[in-house]
Amino acid sequence: MDYSSQLLVVGEDNGLRAKCILILENLFDTSLIIEYTNISEAIEEIEMNDTITFVVLQASADEMAQNDFNEQLKKMNSSCPVLVITDEDEFKDNNKICYIQTPFTVADFQKKISRIHQDLAEDSNNASYRKVRIANFWRFNKSLCDIYLKLSDIKYVKIINNNEQYSRSDIEKYSKKKLDHLYIRNEDFENFACGQFHTPFLILDKSQWKEGQEEEALLTTHAFIHDLAKNVGISKLAVELAEAYVKEIEALITKEEDIYGLFLKMRENRDYLYDHSYLISCLSASMCMELPWKNRDEIAKKLTLAAIFHDITIDDPNLAMIDDINSPLLKEFSLEQRKKFKEHPEKTVEMIRKIKSFPADVETIIFQHHEKIDGSGFPKGIAEKHISPLSGAFQIIHSFVSELYNHEFDQSKVEEILLGLYKTYGSGAFKVQMESLLKSLELELTLKFE
Ligand SMILES: [Fe+2]
Ligand SMILES: [Fe+2]
Repeated sequence: MDYSSQLLVVGEDNGLRAKCILILENLFDTSLIIEYTNISEAIEEIEMNDTITFVVLQASADEMAQNDFNEQLKKMNSSCPVLVITDEDEFKDNNKICYIQTPFTVADFQKKISRIHQDLAEDSNNASYRKVRIANFWRFNKSLCDIYLKLSDIKYVKIINNNEQYSRSDIEKYSKKKLDHLYIRNEDFENFACGQFHTPFLILDKSQWKEGQEEEALLTTHAFIHDLAKNVGISKLAVELAEAYVKEIEALITKEEDIYGLFLKMRENRDYLYDHSYLISCLSASMCMELPWKNRDEIAKKLTLAAIFHDITIDDPNLAMIDDINSPLLKEFSLEQRKKFKEHPEKTVEMIRKIKSFPADVETIIFQHHEKIDGSGFPKGIAEKHISPLSGAFQIIHSFVSELYNHEFDQSKVEEILLGLYKTYGSGAFKVQMESLLKSLELELTLKFE
């Protein structure tokens, strides 16, 4: 698709970015939307890219009180208009900067955008249907509103009813036809977009499940993860290997009541915790195929063990998505949950230490999985040279998986994500691990990795 212009959505809150993108995609059909979590990187992009027509920027009132922030906003604003999303209502609009306070409605958002963007009238989008990326449908099995397929600009056909259960194959049919979006009615869209995390339009309903359906659903989950794995270049062989390792591990822990219980609970929930652990296993198997080390098979098993257990003491999947101890997202959790999060690397190690058959290396990987190459991680804040080579391998894969989630497994972003990782890990202590991962993926890379 040729894009007539580009828009930037900048901010650390993934949920809020997703909401903005959902609305913007419906307002600007022919614009490419680029996401940044970091304001400095966004400014670099703006300075290099003159097709950006405007920026949506998240910032708390506290941040906005800082001089640094105002300097950055000025810089940004010298190139294009900015809509600032903020948590307080004390800022006045001018003709190049507008402010909107959270929570906002789709109509409020559109009104503000129309002030800084001349091509958009306040009410220009009075379409009866709004589009929603297909990826939104994967993890759920019941819809709380009618879902439509677009046949032409004026013709839509209902494919899933309000309150109806659907299966993976119902949705798969459409994704195979290379359709990226399904549609919901405008009035449902407003509800959905404004309460994405509290009043979803899709849910997982287990109430009607009969015996055996749990296992069947697990197969569906695996099939779904295999699809994702394929999309990001993981070979079929790597996925099969990972699957075999996970089975081996399951057999190993059946007698360890505590940990087996947690494993089953994680598997039963099949949320982010399970998916991301499973994907890390697949990527570990993939990376190990190219690692120029002895005992690659052993290493892959160790990484898989760490993948399955590293976050097992975290019970809220939203908490498991956080990687940084200073993330503002942590504010949304109770003090107790935050404490648990801070301690989870150590607590998990204490727990698995009881299992004699687990190699000691696995403890190190789990203990170090939130450390950072520059020393900004936790629990110890150690830097590159104190992080073990296997922990380094795990971190690269863990970051890759987190970024894939942040970008909704958008295939067009995979290379860019890898390039970002390469900038961090492509020289220094974990170069071999990074290069092995790149080599193992079945991707034709066009960006410059050097
Ligand atoms: Fe973790
Ligand atoms: Fe994790």
